[in-house]
Amino acid sequence: MNFGKLSALFLLSSIVLISCSKSDASGVSADTSTDTSLYNELFVPPFITGTNFNLTLDKATKQFKSGSATATYGYNGNSFWGPTLIMNQGDDVQINVTNNLSDQTTVHWHGFHIPAIMDGGPHQIIDAGGTWSPHFNVKNNAGTYWYHPHLHMKTYEQLAKGAGGFIIVKDPVESALALPRTYGTDDIPLVLTSRRFNSDNTFDITGAYGDYLLTNGTMNAQVTLPKQYVRLRILNAEIERGYDLGLSDNRSFAIIGNDGGLLNAPVTVNRVKIMAGERVEILVNLGADALGSRIDLKAYNTGQKFGFPGAEPANAGDFGSLLNNKDFSVLHIKVGASSAEAITSLPSTLANNTYWTNADVTNSRTINITGGQAGSAFTFDNNTYGFTSINQTIKLNDIEKWTIVNNNIFGHSFHVHDVQFKIIARSSGAVGEHESGWKDTVYVPLGETVTVIAKFDDFADAVNPYMYHCHFSNHEDGGMMGQFLVN
Ligand code: C2O
Ligand code: CU
Ligand code: CU
Repeated sequence: MNFGKLSALFLLSSIVLISCSKSDASGVSADTSTDTSLYNELFVPPFITGTNFNLTLDKATKQFKSGSATATYGYNGNSFWGPTLIMNQGDDVQINVTNNLSDQTTVHWHGFHIPAIMDGGPHQIIDAGGTWSPHFNVKNNAGTYWYHPHLHMKTYEQLAKGAGGFIIVKDPVESALALPRTYGTDDIPLVLTSRRFNSDNTFDITGAYGDYLLTNGTMNAQVTLPKQYVRLRILNAEIERGYDLGLSDNRSFAIIGNDGGLLNAPVTVNRVKIMAGERVEILVNLGADALGSRIDLKAYNTGQKFGFPGAEPANAGDFGSLLNNKDFSVLHIKVGASSAEAITSLPSTLANNTYWTNADVTNSRTINITGGQAGSAFTFDNNTYGFTSINQTIKLNDIEKWTIVNNNIFGHSFHVHDVQFKIIARSSGAVGEHESGWKDTVYVPLGETVTVIAKFDDFADAVNPYMYHCHFSNHEDGGMMGQFLVN
């Protein structure tokens, strides 16, 4: 990719944009539309629960557009994405992952605090036809996590084709709260990602942005939700695009959790930004809505500042897409009858997290975002990812402060394996309330320095590393990844 072309593209595309302003890429006209034929029923992934989980990754096809079906990947017979794994904190779980692709793969348990050898990073390769059987104790707090391939230089392709799934962890703190938790009824997982299609309807696996939004793999998705508080567990599983989410009548909603689980108290907002790899759990009150009325969850991505992935105005090319710099529907919601155990009020407090502060820190390090100039790939500290290189070594039980410095060309989504961290500072100003809980992925805008603190406890291994990387899978595949040992 030629990053030097960026500003030229910008100028050109703003001219193009004027001539095609009104056309909505999704074909969805207005929020108030009552023409339901425009929409497809949202796919809600089936779930598996217990302590034994079998996942089989296979090639599949899915009909997205008229003409040929699109070649996809899915787990357990799904045509895109995979089943939701529901686990209980404290359980010892056993997972068997079978790879029916003709290529290698891996499966990473994003956000989980587990031994490096069980992590499913680039080193835990599952050969074509092979089965990998990791097992671990679930230590994470109740929250929304996910699994996805992590094969070096194939992460983009395998994720783009649909390989991924949710993991929902339950724990006693969350279970004691009056929150919506009937999966598929008032507790809905939503994975957001966009795709571009080639003329033969195969996915284009080259650029940064898709032209068509897929919500749980459904184009123009709609769902009927009960007239009460509903919980949306939103995951940005994009290649790059960020989302600034809100509701079409601008009503406020409550953020109750982020990457590592519940916040200490709900935070009421009318917009929330979510970047590649991040999760946010929100509660939307539909209790006062008329039966049969409609509201859209939308991305308000118009006019974001440069460096926000998807703010580029071009509607085609490496850094453009039909969805760039636009507002578009993410989910068309129809209000239906309330369900049996309807939640009708919002708890005032949630969890009782005690976060790390500067006073706890036992070691500090700085990571610079580098590269990306004149067509070169992005890197950390000028090192391209090396399968056998160890970039950082951390002492078991150290509480580390990581300062991530981004003076380089674009925003990035920084993810660390093994731990959940606390964001303690952003050089641009305050840390957002939506990111005030435990986090494993943090957006680092262009020109900003972000400081986080994590404790690297429980799992030491002198040989097997964990990863830290940009969660833009094209940047990750391009070498914007490093490895650390804890020992
Ligand atoms: Cu979700 Cu290392 O990744
Ligand atoms: Cu991860
Ligand atoms: Cu990046």
